[in-house]
Amino acid sequence: MSYLLGVDLGTSGTKTVLFNENGEAVASSTVEYPLYQPHNGWAEQNPEDWWNATVKTIRSVMEQSGVNKGEVAGLGISGQMHGLVMLDGDGNVLRKSIIWCDQRTGKECDEITQRMGGRERLIEITANPALTGFTASKILWVRNNEPEIYAKCRKILLPKDYVRYMLTEDFATEVSDASGMQLVDVKNRCWSQEVLKALDIDRELLGEMYESAQVTGHISTQAAAVTGLSIETVVVGGAGDNAAAAVGTGVVRDNTAFTTIGTSGVVFAHTSTPQIDPLGRVHTFCCAVPGAWHVMGVTQGAGLSLKWFRDNFCQDIIAQAKDLGKDPYYLMDKMANEIPIGSNRLIYLPYLMGERTPHLDPDCRGVFFGLSAIHNKAALIRSVLEGVTFSLRDCYEVLNEKGVSVSDMRACGGGGTSRVWRQMMADVYGCPVKTVLNNEGAALGVAILAGVGAGIFLSVEAGCDAVIHTNEPQNPKAENCAEYEKFYTLYKTLYPALKDKYKILAGI
Ligand code: XUL
Repeated sequence: MSYLLGVDLGTSGTKTVLFNENGEAVASSTVEYPLYQPHNGWAEQNPEDWWNATVKTIRSVMEQSGVNKGEVAGLGISGQMHGLVMLDGDGNVLRKSIIWCDQRTGKECDEITQRMGGRERLIEITANPALTGFTASKILWVRNNEPEIYAKCRKILLPKDYVRYMLTEDFATEVSDASGMQLVDVKNRCWSQEVLKALDIDRELLGEMYESAQVTGHISTQAAAVTGLSIETVVVGGAGDNAAAAVGTGVVRDNTAFTTIGTSGVVFAHTSTPQIDPLGRVHTFCCAVPGAWHVMGVTQGAGLSLKWFRDNFCQDIIAQAKDLGKDPYYLMDKMANEIPIGSNRLIYLPYLMGERTPHLDPDCRGVFFGLSAIHNKAALIRSVLEGVTFSLRDCYEVLNEKGVSVSDMRACGGGGTSRVWRQMMADVYGCPVKTVLNNEGAALGVAILAGVGAGIFLSVEAGCDAVIHTNEPQNPKAENCAEYEKFYTLYKTLYPALKDKYKILAGI
């Protein structure tokens, strides 16, 4: 039997899962690491933490499973997208990584748009307007603000590509994650010479581009010694976390889509033709299936909202959960389920880290609208769940508007495991929502890609057909849909009403 490793480098931690060739998880291990927020809107992580977590989790799954290293045919890495890792000429990390949810680069976005001679051409090539979350603006920020670091930089990598570099010593990336750097010609799946020239970024700083299921290298002797893996194991391109989750949920053909609720929330639809939104509200990226793309809307503060609420206001629930041997989110879910739709007239705007789809506004912030003395903790929890779901509906609406039709919606990520949250999605979208039986999401997705690279599966689609099976859908309930619609209609009016006030707040 051959085995495949999926390493999922997330924002809260790295999870590594060892799968057999039927896609069944044999062992799993997660190691968490900190997120540094030295200023409002900044977000950084330490690349060494990612590497240490990768080593620890790989060692752990190998030990737990007792699988012989020679049986691990391939390894794939899924990564939080957009983060900037800079290395010097000796491969040392030059500064903490500025990660996807960091919002400091407003000025650099203006600089990018201006250097490109306007938004239109930039969107035409990179399929997205200049965004604070994307890597290009982070590169320019370092050049503008830390020129001594930029001068020493010899390699620019995405988070998962740094881990690849540590595993294989190869300086490489792949199309799905690279699409989120804003340096790629998304239609043609290659670095854009025009963008690199306009932004004055040296091509030599960037790795070689692969398709997601292509082999980029093998485990190096040094990495084999620390991880316990074999130098025979192939490492494939892997994918950005969303493209990886698509493969791991079987979203690899037209009309299929998924919603993931991790730290951020994403509504993602597969498309065999690149559908670019000239307004830039949704992202179009290359997907992990060769010759195909995806369109996705992103809510910056999805699971992040609930985690923020849990960590700051739910110490009692955390303690109770510990006594009961349950996850605090399980108890929070139960509490939310006791509250009626609309959270007793309380609406939450989940903009704790600014917002992408549809507002593209780094300055907006979270709001509880309608707070009254009758509201208790359970109402606030439900309101957070509903607010996040409304912002996912905003994403879903833009996809529909782009003509990307969805007949098959799958839920994944931490939030997707909640039955309460899934029913909310079905009711708020007005569309059946199902889960996949094997809910390892991104880790399974990159393991399937590794299986393609190792020759176990003929194609990404064939790999999905072999290992992904779905559960019965949760259907929308007409009476719930109608009730949610009233609150969603009001929700949609709140951002426009506050838009200018957010700017004033940011300027104080
Ligand atoms: C996608 C995005 C997030 C991150 C973190 O554009 O920014 O999904 O990849 O998960």
